[in-house]
Amino acid sequence: MSIVDKGKEVAQGIAQSVMMKAVELAPGALLPGGRPDPLIRRQHGHIGKPVSRVDGPLKVRGAAPFAAEIALDGMVYAALAYSTIAKGRIVTLDTGAAEAAPGVVLVMTHRNAPRLNPLPRFLSGDKAAAGDDSPVMQDDRVRWNGEPIALVLAETQEQADHARSLIRVTYAEEPAATSLPTAALPTADGCEVGTFMGEPLRAVVGDADAALAAAPHKVEAVFTTPGHNHNALELHGATLVWRGDELFVHDATQAVAHTAWSMAQVFGLEETQVHVSSPFVGGGFGAKGLWQHQILAAAAARLAGRPVRIALSREGVYRIVGGRSQTEQRVALGADADGRLTAIIHRGVTPKTRHSPMPEPFILPTQSAYAAKTFALEVQTCYLDMVANTFMRAPGEAVGTVALECAMDELAEQLGMDPIELRILNEPEKDPLSGRPFSSRNIVAAYRAGAQRFGWDRRNPVPRSRREGDWLVGMGCATATYPYHRMPGGAARITLDAAGHARIDVAAHEMGMGTATTHTQVAADRLGLPLEAVTVRYGDSSLPGVILAGGSQQTASVGLSVMMAHQELVGELLKLAGNDSPLAGLAADEVECTDAGLRKQDEPGRFESYASILARSGRSELVVEGKAPMPLETMHWSMHSHGAMFCEVRVNAVTGETRVSRFLGSFDCGRILNPKTAASQFRGGIIMGLGLALMEETQFDGRNGRIMNRNLSDYHLPVHLDVPEIEVIWTDIPDPHAPMGARGIGEIGITGTGAAVANAIHNATGRRVREFPITLDKLL
Ligand code: MOS
Repeated sequence: MSIVDKGKEVAQGIAQSVMMKAVELAPGALLPGGRPDPLIRRQHGHIGKPVSRVDGPLKVRGAAPFAAEIALDGMVYAALAYSTIAKGRIVTLDTGAAEAAPGVVLVMTHRNAPRLNPLPRFLSGDKAAAGDDSPVMQDDRVRWNGEPIALVLAETQEQADHARSLIRVTYAEEPAATSLPTAALPTADGCEVGTFMGEPLRAVVGDADAALAAAPHKVEAVFTTPGHNHNALELHGATLVWRGDELFVHDATQAVAHTAWSMAQVFGLEETQVHVSSPFVGGGFGAKGLWQHQILAAAAARLAGRPVRIALSREGVYRIVGGRSQTEQRVALGADADGRLTAIIHRGVTPKTRHSPMPEPFILPTQSAYAAKTFALEVQTCYLDMVANTFMRAPGEAVGTVALECAMDELAEQLGMDPIELRILNEPEKDPLSGRPFSSRNIVAAYRAGAQRFGWDRRNPVPRSRREGDWLVGMGCATATYPYHRMPGGAARITLDAAGHARIDVAAHEMGMGTATTHTQVAADRLGLPLEAVTVRYGDSSLPGVILAGGSQQTASVGLSVMMAHQELVGELLKLAGNDSPLAGLAADEVECTDAGLRKQDEPGRFESYASILARSGRSELVVEGKAPMPLETMHWSMHSHGAMFCEVRVNAVTGETRVSRFLGSFDCGRILNPKTAASQFRGGIIMGLGLALMEETQFDGRNGRIMNRNLSDYHLPVHLDVPEIEVIWTDIPDPHAPMGARGIGEIGITGTGAAVANAIHNATGRRVREFPITLDKLL
């Protein structure tokens, strides 16, 4: 099926899902006919085993090709020149010296770039992939400090970089908006309520301000978080070639189908004329989508008639790839004498750009965290002239939980309550805003298990009461939360061959998280095969499905697609088996897949192997495709992954240096499909959260809108010495409403972590630092 048809189906599906809001689903129903996923509760098999990565040997041998390592015959190398003003017009652009430099094949500017259609931006459609929809080198305007103004192609990377340094430009500067009004002035020019996924970032229940005023216990505080830049190990890059009117892109992306469709829109092509391949991605946290570099490289490749490799430098990623923008959040909590919340207020301000689809939606975690009588939640957004803000691991929750969970700690202190007990007291019975039942919520169990394992009872609630030499020691906790998502468009193909080997084809992504491994396990369990008899093929736009590796939803999307394809497979196998088989006359729901064949449930004698069925019917292989049904589960249940985070810090009383000495994440994310890859996801998220708490900060020069610390020596990330032993445990309680019983795990680790660290620092020092990151100067 073409991508056009896939897209139409997705669009129809969305329309249908809206109409079907009132449809009742049976508990656990995921399959047509109301049957639950049989794998949700199966206890024996490959699911739940710590299987090592199937792509691990390739990677450690250096044999896994990444996008900017693919070599094409006749390839030339690209270098980008970036604007140095935030807003205005290019007046002169002298490219003569660059054109005359050794090895130069092309210098492309807005004067000679081909005319291009606008980039379809994220959330503007089901397959839009661009984080920013600014015109790409189409005019003399400058929209942010760092926007590409010229691209050089040369025979070597060094020649391209040198020629780029010879370009001379002058600008007519215009006044730019480069600093954020404070939350005290949310109605500044150009400020408005932000939106996320088409919904306004605003929720009001009752009169929270009045409830706060009347509350016997209240806390109110303003928290600020800075911008964060994306720093995946693999820099953004692509190697691409035109063959006639077809474009072949080796990309580093978490959205192959989206990128193919979006590039086709830009170049006025049919979707089938763009082929995107991305089998290995060296980390993607929301920003490995479509940015200007792939478009510029493809445009230049067409002008030059040569294949092009574009590999952004670390500076290049900071200049043209968006990150998380800064927030200023005011949280006020009111509680009655017993500690029950009567008001939750979470309001604040964050920038957005004219060309970005999303502001940082920091109120999202507050929507389903606690029971309260009243709520007032709102994200105000103001336009700035800067690089687009975009998705970055747990957009919203990562920094929203910082404010909410620090405020809960402050309230617990005021009430003289244990912060865990305060949270448990305010556990909601159903989703406090939507009123939907939770699909599965065992956060209390996660807290109890985590507290015991961490030794929470050894915490002295009196701040600054434990000192070892110069080191003040303290413990803190916070709640982690991230929603379950499943986006429309999932599809998968199964090819079963006569030798009993199954290949799963799905347009999914392996960015290091273990997708290929986990789905090998899931498919093997579904099909009753050993792991060696299953191959998962992914990372190519020609494969079925429109599946984003984002929103922690890829596993649900792929898993349900494979489940649907498997249903087809069983039906086809029974047809092929016919009347000469021990399976004769059986319906699909009477058989199970086991031992590389089909067997009647509860009657082991009625069995025939796949190989035998195919051989008797003279088939060399059987190919089936399945499409995931519309994601109705989230219309019926409030579905979230949960966690309880525990941190121990040591803060030096002399230097203010903070050392995280122990960390434990206790998660409730449904069934854990592979404990080895899951533990890495949890730990990776927590490590990113430690950076958010203590060091990560995009230094944005408010005078000219330029990011100053655009490299890894000035932008601090946690390195090995910053990361303590991190323990991760989980409830492993299957979610009856999620495919395989599993909710997402990719993003939750970064949530709650910042607050757990800040709360531990308070317990150690008595200091509340509300301005993140908590660097040593703020503790002196
Ligand atoms: Mo994630 S921010 O959805 O890659």
